[in-house]
Amino acid sequence: METTEKTIDALLEENRVFEPSDEFASQANATPEIYDEAEDFEGFWARMAEELHWYRMWDKVVEYDPPAVIRWFIGGRLNASYNCVDRHVAGPKRNKAAIIWEGELGEERVLTYWDLYREVGKFANVLKGLGVKKGDRVAIYMPMIPELPIALLACARIGAPHSVVFGGFSAEALRERINDAEAKVIITADGGYRRGGVVQLKKAVDEALQMTPTVTDVVVVKRVGDDVEGMVCHMQEGRDHWWHELGVDAKTKCEPEEMDAEDMLYILYTSGSTGKPKGIVHTTGGYLVGTYTTFKYIFDNKDDDVFWCTADIGWVTGHSYVVYGPLANGATVVMYEGSPDFPDRGRWWGTIEKYGVTVLYTAPTAIRSFMKWGTEWPAKYDLSSLRLLGSVGEPINPEAWMWYHKYIGNENCPVADTWWQTETGMILITPLPGAVATKPGSATRPFPTVDADVFDENGDSVPVGAGGNLVVKKAWPSMTRTLYKDPERFKAVYWSKYPGVYLAGDGAKRDEDGYFWLLGRIDDVINISGHRMSTMEVESALVDHQAVAESAVIGIPHEIKGEAIAAFVILKDGFDGTMQMEKELKSHVRQKIGAIAQPEMIIFIAELPKTRSGKIMRRLLRDVAAGRALGDTTTLADPNVVAELKKKYENEE
Ligand code: WTA
Repeated sequence: METTEKTIDALLEENRVFEPSDEFASQANATPEIYDEAEDFEGFWARMAEELHWYRMWDKVVEYDPPAVIRWFIGGRLNASYNCVDRHVAGPKRNKAAIIWEGELGEERVLTYWDLYREVGKFANVLKGLGVKKGDRVAIYMPMIPELPIALLACARIGAPHSVVFGGFSAEALRERINDAEAKVIITADGGYRRGGVVQLKKAVDEALQMTPTVTDVVVVKRVGDDVEGMVCHMQEGRDHWWHELGVDAKTKCEPEEMDAEDMLYILYTSGSTGKPKGIVHTTGGYLVGTYTTFKYIFDNKDDDVFWCTADIGWVTGHSYVVYGPLANGATVVMYEGSPDFPDRGRWWGTIEKYGVTVLYTAPTAIRSFMKWGTEWPAKYDLSSLRLLGSVGEPINPEAWMWYHKYIGNENCPVADTWWQTETGMILITPLPGAVATKPGSATRPFPTVDADVFDENGDSVPVGAGGNLVVKKAWPSMTRTLYKDPERFKAVYWSKYPGVYLAGDGAKRDEDGYFWLLGRIDDVINISGHRMSTMEVESALVDHQAVAESAVIGIPHEIKGEAIAAFVILKDGFDGTMQMEKELKSHVRQKIGAIAQPEMIIFIAELPKTRSGKIMRRLLRDVAAGRALGDTTTLADPNVVAELKKKYENEE
């Protein structure tokens, strides 16, 4: 915990406080009284749930005895797609823009709620035509195009849980997730645009589908076409279908399936401490109520807002705050397909000016890139439509917070640093703009009703200023119910340290105002650009290469990405640690997992520091990498290993 100790010391010197302006506070959805209203825990959530559409109201708000019993809105029946689409079509929002899409090449598509209703209905009928039934899993591997949210909502409409796999993952990573979920159908595109080039998704799907016995059909959106050089999109007779051809005769009307509040809405895989990704399961009622409520209050949603969450729908942030949260509120969302520096570094700011974006939700890693690129880029555009800014994915450095506040928010937009996880489904720790004063670098207070705490090893609350494990003691509606097909792991990972209390896996401290300061992961999870990657996953990918005998992977601080991967590798006899080998191993990891997992540096070594019982001492590796004085080395089997390691590492740098 040495780095985190240092980080927090630096953070606690951070004493700037930003009070909400009267102007913002007077119009905000959340007033300070919301924290008092939340004293009535069940009443609060029941009132929020009543704002949605239910075929049948619930008998009981919550039953909670985790990990076995986590149930919300028991007996209630609803449909998520109905709530995100039909509910608005029936009223004055019928012709309001639901999705404003911009392709990387500059194309625009606007879908009103009525358009969305039509497209979702048609595609839901297409899925039914392919034999997809309630409960069948559908894997989705797509670029950021409108067909992606349409696909999610179509699945939700017919009660088929979706499992979205981020388009940046490799064919192998996709296959593993398809097989774990036993998906019946895959929805993909021929490709998508990224930094001017094409990412060939269908090609990866073909590779993945060589060993996926459960898949019967593949639906392919033609995003790129045949005009692009090098583009290959082979369509296998009988298995593969073009989205636009299947849709021709499909009817618009598709009665939504009446789902039980606890029926599964989706699975989303995320990295844990071990190599195998965890299938996070979210159910329908609680998840929708949680994302609906947090979106309404944290992003202060108003009917004329234009909300832009820059996350890819392949991650939970996109699920909750591009699709379900905003659409359940009848908001207008912006969706952008490509990268922030194409054709130049002003792309995002031009997009904000073009569509009059009022609320922007992005990640610290992006903010740090923009800081590096210089203020001249945002300065070229009119960003005065912005009224609120959000951040998510990793702790935001106070410098990045201040830069965001000053150069993007022109010092008059509240900044909401929002802490949450794939598992939590919704934001749990966050300021409510207009009601809570902010401090750069702090996610501030738990959302109303959320009972977060910081525990020591014995399960006692730590005193003000001390570090510990972030936990949540009471239920919240959108929490994951289990890990898909793995309740034992669910119990072991989140509930075994403190029985009945949710262990988040993050370190945290609280200050004298009760504000939370997040300190990063306490397990072997690395946070690269706000995306979780397990050290084990990367190690397994490396060891999978024929030249590698053993490897240990750690996170090292990185200016833009927050953390990057450093891999210590022992080669088998007969292989040399050449530049060529380093290149080969990097590309091997890229191929096994995806570009985000590619190590920043590989250090070839003869031996790893291990305890006498054979455990790799990652802490020592981290110390070496950070150039710190070595901590306790007395448990080391062979003390010479570390001296050797240090020499090697310094040469690499
Ligand atoms: C980290 C993303 C500090 C944290 C929504 C968490 C944060 C992990 C913040 C979840 C924040 C997310 N401040 N750390 N505001 N937001 N994290 O599942 O370590 O992709 O456990 O969900 O990201 O990542 P995940």
